[in-house]
Amino acid sequence: MKSISKIREDFPILKAQVNDKTLVYLDNAATTQKPKTVIEAINNYYQNQNSNVHRGVHSLSQLATQKYESTREIVKNFIVAKSTDEIIFTRGTTESINLIAQSYGRSFLNAGDEIIISQMEHHSNIVPWQILCGQISVKLKVIDVTDSGELNLKSLEKLLSDKTKIVSLMHVSNTLGTINPIKEIIKIIKNFNKDIIVSIDGAQAVQHLKVNVLDLGCDFYSFSGHKIYGPTGVGVLYGKRELLNKMPPWQGGGDMIASVSFDKTTYNILPYKFEAGTPNIAGVIGLGEAIKYVQNLGLDFIYEQEKKLLDYAFRKLSQIKEVKIIGQAKEKSAVISFILKDIHAHDVGTILDQSGVAIRAGHHCTQPLMERFNVPATVRASFAFYNTEEEVDNLIDGIKKTLEIFK
Ligand code: ALA
Repeated sequence: MKSISKIREDFPILKAQVNDKTLVYLDNAATTQKPKTVIEAINNYYQNQNSNVHRGVHSLSQLATQKYESTREIVKNFIVAKSTDEIIFTRGTTESINLIAQSYGRSFLNAGDEIIISQMEHHSNIVPWQILCGQISVKLKVIDVTDSGELNLKSLEKLLSDKTKIVSLMHVSNTLGTINPIKEIIKIIKNFNKDIIVSIDGAQAVQHLKVNVLDLGCDFYSFSGHKIYGPTGVGVLYGKRELLNKMPPWQGGGDMIASVSFDKTTYNILPYKFEAGTPNIAGVIGLGEAIKYVQNLGLDFIYEQEKKLLDYAFRKLSQIKEVKIIGQAKEKSAVISFILKDIHAHDVGTILDQSGVAIRAGHHCTQPLMERFNVPATVRASFAFYNTEEEVDNLIDGIKKTLEIFK
């Protein structure tokens, strides 16, 4: 196994200077940094292979198509789907969830039906459902979050009813780091009624945990490329083939059709039916490289490394009496949210930035969760396998400096 210092050499940005200090990047839940292999694959595509996919008989187009489609195979194997027909490329998790809401939700739900989400969801797993509620008069029900930042499964059991048609939950919380027991939750839902559709937002999961969609038993699973060391603007929607087959297309345009006339248009087969227009070809190729990078390191190694960092940071932060950690679930990924006395999170973030430490300060696109914990915002440090204990120490020094300034 490569040492962490060798691994860090794979990520050129980790040597960047920010405010005359070497960057300490602890904002990995917002987006992860990119290894050279990803950057080079994108570069190489634009320099040597740039061409459109699925359209040309010429050699470059065939090469681009082959590279684009090989990522579909990589993703299929990575999340253990049955077929590449079940892997749809989107712009990211947000677009994947909007696609489910607008295609499946709008076609198969009726007024009065219910959709269950939770209090910890990211806005991208709240707002698409609210839009659907406004369109077809379905209702949103919300699972509570406990004081430790875990889903209250009793609340889920109470909410399930004959009206429940979709349950859409995050696998791992971007704000608290809570790893939800998603397999157990899916069992509860499917035992109640196997026809309830379960959609999982895996944006914060696939980069930390092994995900096997067949073993989980979900109907849909979404994730983003940029959170798993790949480029922005590309993501994945996994859906069970029988569901995707019966769903209407969401967006119309080139490539998603079989034939077009003014009298009748017919649609392409899966997965192309859901990929209208020229896709993010470079992004998809970059995503394939990113997944290969993660697979080469191994998710077991990544989990262990990040767990060590989480435990170390948790211990160090707990020693500062002015720090209050929000979210103390038993199973956590390497994300810590906290408040520092009554100092606004943005002030903490600005002072940390002066020391080159990048964290996220704010509501993390989870305003209902902020309300649940009665805080306007938190400071969030989120770690990746390339972070070090020295970087955690930089964070702690920055927090002490902030406390000094606000004394
Ligand atoms: N969803 C991203 C975050 O949690 C942007 O920061």
